[in-house]
Amino acid sequence: MTSAGRRLVVIGGGVIGLSCAFEAACAGWDVTVVDPQPGRGAGWVAAGMLAPTAEAHFGEEALTRLLVAGAGVWPKFAADLEFAIGGTVGFEVTGSLLAAKDAGDRSDLIRTLEFQRSLGLNVEELRPAALRSLEPNLSPTLAAGALLPNDHQVSNRLLLAGLVRACIESGVSFVHEEATALGWSGSMATVQLGSGDSMTSESLLLAMGARTGLVESTLGPLPIVRPVKGHILRLRGTEPLLERTVRATVRGRNVYLVPRRDGELVVGATVEERGFDERVQAGQVFALLDDARRVLPGVDELELVESACGLRPATSTNAPVIGRLDDGPVLIATGHYRNGILLAPLTAQIIASELEGRRHPAADLVAAAEIPAR
Ligand code: GLY
Repeated sequence: MTSAGRRLVVIGGGVIGLSCAFEAACAGWDVTVVDPQPGRGAGWVAAGMLAPTAEAHFGEEALTRLLVAGAGVWPKFAADLEFAIGGTVGFEVTGSLLAAKDAGDRSDLIRTLEFQRSLGLNVEELRPAALRSLEPNLSPTLAAGALLPNDHQVSNRLLLAGLVRACIESGVSFVHEEATALGWSGSMATVQLGSGDSMTSESLLLAMGARTGLVESTLGPLPIVRPVKGHILRLRGTEPLLERTVRATVRGRNVYLVPRRDGELVVGATVEERGFDERVQAGQVFALLDDARRVLPGVDELELVESACGLRPATSTNAPVIGRLDDGPVLIATGHYRNGILLAPLTAQIIASELEGRRHPAADLVAAAEIPAR
């Protein structure tokens, strides 16, 4: 039985909210998730790459250390989740490849590899022949490549479905409504729902991704999180064209191709500053397909089954915000930008520790990543 004071309301049932809900429920908290469509959000239109190496960017060295820590907890998280649901979430330890289409892309690749090595990340440069011996379906005209042995993948949709199921089996309740307003008084936090009902709790976790700023709030200033649009495509063939994720640069443009064992190929993703615009635009779909087929000619034969857009939640530093607001009843976990799936398990551990009044060691990595680069 759950003791009084161990009640948690999570606003937002995306990958972050669900991971936190599952972790807290396993620790004995009485958890309710508020979301009209749990298991969706930005994670639904993600590719599921777990890429601490490929997502290491200049000026984000501290964030990279957080990403590496996030990757480190994935194997156990996947095993625990799969045990809880008695099924797979498609966690695949395959490594990833980088590929450069032409000489200019190769120069960028070499600079990137030097930077990744300077951070102690494991990268192995590959000549085109070695690239194609690993992935024979790649274009014969690629200029260069690299193996990233520590960048893996999970099936994002199996993961989200698995998290919903694991939450239900751990006793988490779901309220399928929109949160319209947030506030607190004394030691209690309150959330108003679209139906006009309200809920109060000693602990409230905001995990609303890009929508963090859209809900009315008297909680004081919330972190500024903006939506960064990404187009992503799902294609399907009878069998996989690749064994591992390929992240390519094609004349300066980035494209990634993420194969699933069932023949699905996820192709993404654009990075667009367009506010809350979720329209799928022909030009962006064309560009993704054009780049993808230059890297993997067999794309031409695949069925295009879905084109969609997601809104990544980004802060000004690209680092997430994870922790408690002003020592009150409200916690927040948002701003994971391109790394929501990678960081979901570690975020859940940090939040679960905070609920128990303990500081998780990785909270220092989050704090360091939040400091703007100079
Ligand atoms: N994590 C890859 C992306 O955000 O496109």
